[in-house]
Amino acid sequence: MMTPELYNSRFMKAARCEPTDCTPVWIMRQAGRYLPEYMAVRSKTTFIDLCKTPELAAEVTLTAREVLGVDAAILFADLLPILQPMGFDLEYVKGEGPVIHNPLMAASEIDRVKAVDDVEILSYVFDAIKLIRNDLPSDIPLLGFAGAPFTLASYAIEGGGSKNYIRTKTIMYNDEGAWDALMNRLVDSLGKYLNAQIDAGVQAVQIFDSWAGCLSPADYRRYVQPYTKKLIEAVQDETPLINFLTGNPALIPDQVEAGGDVIGIDWRIDLAEARKIIGNERAIQGNLDPISLYANLDVLESRTKAVLDANAGHPGHIFNLGHGVQPDMNPDHVKALVQMVHELSAN
Ligand code: CP3
Repeated sequence: MMTPELYNSRFMKAARCEPTDCTPVWIMRQAGRYLPEYMAVRSKTTFIDLCKTPELAAEVTLTAREVLGVDAAILFADLLPILQPMGFDLEYVKGEGPVIHNPLMAASEIDRVKAVDDVEILSYVFDAIKLIRNDLPSDIPLLGFAGAPFTLASYAIEGGGSKNYIRTKTIMYNDEGAWDALMNRLVDSLGKYLNAQIDAGVQAVQIFDSWAGCLSPADYRRYVQPYTKKLIEAVQDETPLINFLTGNPALIPDQVEAGGDVIGIDWRIDLAEARKIIGNERAIQGNLDPISLYANLDVLESRTKAVLDANAGHPGHIFNLGHGVQPDMNPDHVKALVQMVHELSAN
């Protein structure tokens, strides 16, 4: 699947820590509600139907890539639909976000969680990948993704977003056997899911541990890292993997230990500091504070430059926000950011 053009693209080179003509950039949630082109498609259907209609998912993926001029496309999908075949009743509620109507209320319920044996049940994702790959420029890689086991477990247990992750942590602390069973079912399902995305045509994958930042380093090492590591090891070796975690830079050493070719970091740590921890063997993705996009363009530019300067020309930097774009951000600022990264980093 990997043509020389894709192999030698800016994004793929940076993922291998090879020098590039300028710093590659893509934006988490680049196809989202801030983009009028997305809203035009979204207004005709529900979010879940958009995810499950390959032609529409392909359209929003390709359009966002093109209007922004970013160096990679990311598959339009979501972290949570994989929980449906695992036995969870998922709904996206207007104004509230995702809700699981039958979350795990106690450790004793974990037996009802099914691992996904046959990922063909998620064929709408693989069909979208094939359509996108067909229509993407031949030098632009397509990224697949999945949630990391902890982040998905927290949704399965909390039933939605959470402030303190009380039920998740209570089950985790009280019943390590049940926690192990749940995490293993997630790891098995997610490994198959990511490998099937690769078979369908993505060039790299990202795992989102969006909520792992609520953990202490010791708890991350004990309850999360072994599973994330197992998942990363299960993913086809030759495909670069971005291990993204947000919320707690104190976890970076353990995040690195879990694996991944690219370490995705947020803005709560200076990139130069992160580089000292991560070293030069792996690429770093990040790490502009997304709220910078609300600032005036001259301020945005100096903040963008500060991130590039913190990387100090090391090969192996993929520019991104430290977390996703917000629905009320100005699309012109997002487009300007992409241009700024290319111009400010050009050799
Ligand atoms: O990045 C991209 O453009 C690709 C698509 C993508 C979406 N969600 C689309 C989406 C990706 C990679 C995700 C990942 C995702 N989904 C995460 C991890 C990302 C992160 O920020 O750390 C999480 C936690 C989810 C779960 C999820 N899906 C939430 C919490 C929500 C509601 C958020 C909100 O702001 O309402 C969603 C819905 C969702 N996923 C939307 C989009 C574009 C908005 C839904 C809509 O159109 O109404």
